[in-house]
Amino acid sequence: VGVDRYDGSTPLPTSVDEVEFFVLPLVLGPGPAAILDQLPRLRVVQALSAGVEDIVPLVPPNVALCNASSVHSTSTAEMAVALVLAAQRDLVAVSRRDFVPDARLIWPSLADRRVLILGYGAIGRAVEARLAGFECEVRRVARRARPDEHVDDLAALPRLLAEVEIVIVCLPLTSATRGLVNAAFLATLPDGALVVNVARGPVIDTAALVAEVQNGRLRAALDVTDPEPLPTGHPLRTSSAVLVTPHVAGRTNALAPRLRDFVHDQVLRYVHGEPLHDVVTDGY
Ligand SMILES: NC(=O)c1ccc[n+]([C@@H]2O[C@H](COP(=O)([O-])OP(=O)(O)OC[C@H]3O[C@@H](n4cnc5c(N)ncnc54)[C@H](OP(=O)(O)O)[C@@H]3O)[C@@H](O)[C@H]2O)c1
Repeated sequence: VGVDRYDGSTPLPTSVDEVEFFVLPLVLGPGPAAILDQLPRLRVVQALSAGVEDIVPLVPPNVALCNASSVHSTSTAEMAVALVLAAQRDLVAVSRRDFVPDARLIWPSLADRRVLILGYGAIGRAVEARLAGFECEVRRVARRARPDEHVDDLAALPRLLAEVEIVIVCLPLTSATRGLVNAAFLATLPDGALVVNVARGPVIDTAALVAEVQNGRLRAALDVTDPEPLPTGHPLRTSSAVLVTPHVAGRTNALAPRLRDFVHDQVLRYVHGEPLHDVVTDGY
């Protein structure tokens, strides 16, 4: 397999008319994204991210798009569980050196809590696998109900939201999911519930979430926000009921070696005419 590198800062390689398999950079720069329609033999675009909402519109017809959902699920699910535990036990506040625990203080556990995984794809499943040792009760929602896996569809949300204490958002950003977590959704959650987002910020209506955390009814732990990055002084940054990380769920030292192995395997599959992994079929 011949390999050429192009990062947008140099002239296009002379192989441009031969390229069949194009691996985009993890952070999509303007250069590589802009040449997708200049590769006459292009068959596969391989994104290194899991979310591809910015790439889908750029992929020419009859060209397959693959994401790296199966790779990102590991680090992202790890972050989801980290956020849940850190929020439940209020680790940021409690780890201050001057913090003196009042003997009457208790914190919410993860054990015995009811957890809704909203979006039960690669990340949702990986979250559930990691929660397995925490003795919590898991509920699952996806686009399509799958009774054999105990997965409900959105029609079950009103019932489920009223009974869960933690929601972990693992949805892609699409026209159907933008703002899905809105004021009505949040209002259905019980007092003190925790909303975790490791997916995309705009899935949650920020103003609605701000209202619920500012009035002290809900808590949040967010790796992704809308807007992103959060401006200094934004209520999601200043509220003590909110834990925010700056979209870093994927950034572990497990990622690069796994991405390398994944791309290697995908190229081999392509060369041997075998089915590719993580083919984007539903526009996200
Ligand atoms: N924080 C980060 O750094 C980070 C890292 C990686 C990924 N992400 C984000 O996480 C998203 C999810 O990743 P993934 O790999 O788990 O994706 P995935 O494998 O495609 O799974 C998506 C899940 O969402 C469900 N879904 C899609 N549209 C829905 C709708 N309208 N209503 C209800 N459920 C819906 C799907 O339902 P079905 O199962 O029925 O199809 C599926 O269960 C990515 O798109 C990306 O934006 C963020």
